[in-house]
Amino acid sequence: MVSHRVGFTYLSQEDLLDAGCFDLRMAMEVAEKAMIDFEEHRILFPEKIVQIFDPVSQDRINCLPATLLEEKICGAKWVSVFPRNPKKYGVQNLSAVFILSEIEKGFPVAVMEGTLASNMRVAAMGGIAAKHLARKDSEIIGFIGAGEQAKMHLLAMKIVRPSLKECRVAAKTVEEEQQFVDELSPLLPDMKFVKANTAAREAMDGADILVTATSAQAPLLKAEWMKSGAFYSHVGGWEDEYAVALQCDKIVCDDWDTVTHRTQTLSRMYKEGLLSHNDIHADLHELVSGHKVGRESDDERIYFNAVGLAYVDVAIALKMFKRAESSHIGLPLDLQKTMVFEHEDIKRKIRL
Ligand SMILES: NC(=O)c1ccc[n+]([C@@H]2O[C@H](COP(=O)([O-])OP(=O)(O)OC[C@H]3O[C@@H](n4cnc5c(N)ncnc54)[C@H](O)[C@@H]3O)[C@@H](O)[C@H]2O)c1
Repeated sequence: MVSHRVGFTYLSQEDLLDAGCFDLRMAMEVAEKAMIDFEEHRILFPEKIVQIFDPVSQDRINCLPATLLEEKICGAKWVSVFPRNPKKYGVQNLSAVFILSEIEKGFPVAVMEGTLASNMRVAAMGGIAAKHLARKDSEIIGFIGAGEQAKMHLLAMKIVRPSLKECRVAAKTVEEEQQFVDELSPLLPDMKFVKANTAAREAMDGADILVTATSAQAPLLKAEWMKSGAFYSHVGGWEDEYAVALQCDKIVCDDWDTVTHRTQTLSRMYKEGLLSHNDIHADLHELVSGHKVGRESDDERIYFNAVGLAYVDVAIALKMFKRAESSHIGLPLDLQKTMVFEHEDIKRKIRL
């Protein structure tokens, strides 16, 4: 008789860490394959669903679905962004859960913690961009913002640019800068860390790689701080003055079409008529596939903006699930043991 049991594996963040899934090289490889699959039409990528609960703070929960046709997996990231959390409650801004389903019978295969995969995806995209767009001899990286995205970004950047020697960091408070250094310096013992004492200029002026990853909505990064030959990865919302993008020789996005529908600096410039499709050099997948070139000279200033592509999130989550499964890590759970009317005691449990 056919079993009507439906089960899935539950994976906590601790399970994923135990299974060796905090692996940014893996995330970058998976993201690169996903981008090629996207270019070759092996991905379904519908619009995300956004629900905003407070127009001022932008507290929101979004649902981001995608299907990997080759892997036969449909997934969704259910992600909460509550920017006031760190100040108000002392807890993280972003939290996420993934559901992965196979597309033969349509049953779920995994429910998993998603903040780790989501934050790794942001850094992986920045790292892949840096691989194509940052100078190979980059030594100094500067950050405005010292939160979760900034920390992950530093790890990814060091992988693709091992020449990095010095990391400068500016945040809204000196305590956050200290926490950034305390958490990252044991992981990168050869890196020299410089706290900017909240002065953005100290962190950014003259850096080879610049990263803004803040919850601010203000033009924090000034164009004059971005030297010739620098690479800039823009992670947050509006956090650089328009002159930064206007002075850049190349602008690359994860997906320009998606950028035009959002609210970060490039989106604002597009809506104000200051930037058009013709000003965009490439989407990142075109660099990965080799259809477009990356950096062509040592003095180009290059701007990269990623807004987040759900199919990359789902691809990374799937790889993590498989890695955990191969180590027998995760909690198998039943969604149902059998179908409703097949339960022997259904007469006792039904309420008519
Ligand atoms: N592009 C993407 O794919 C993507 C994905 C996830 C998150 N994000 C965005 O990245 C940004 C950072 O996210 P996070 O999870 O690291 O947040 P976080 O709350 O952990 O960190 C935010 C950082 O911004 C700093 N900051 C805020 N205002 C500042 C100011 N005026 N000057 C200097 N620093 C300031 C804070 O000090 C803090 O270090 C958010 O805007 C988030 O929405 C982007």
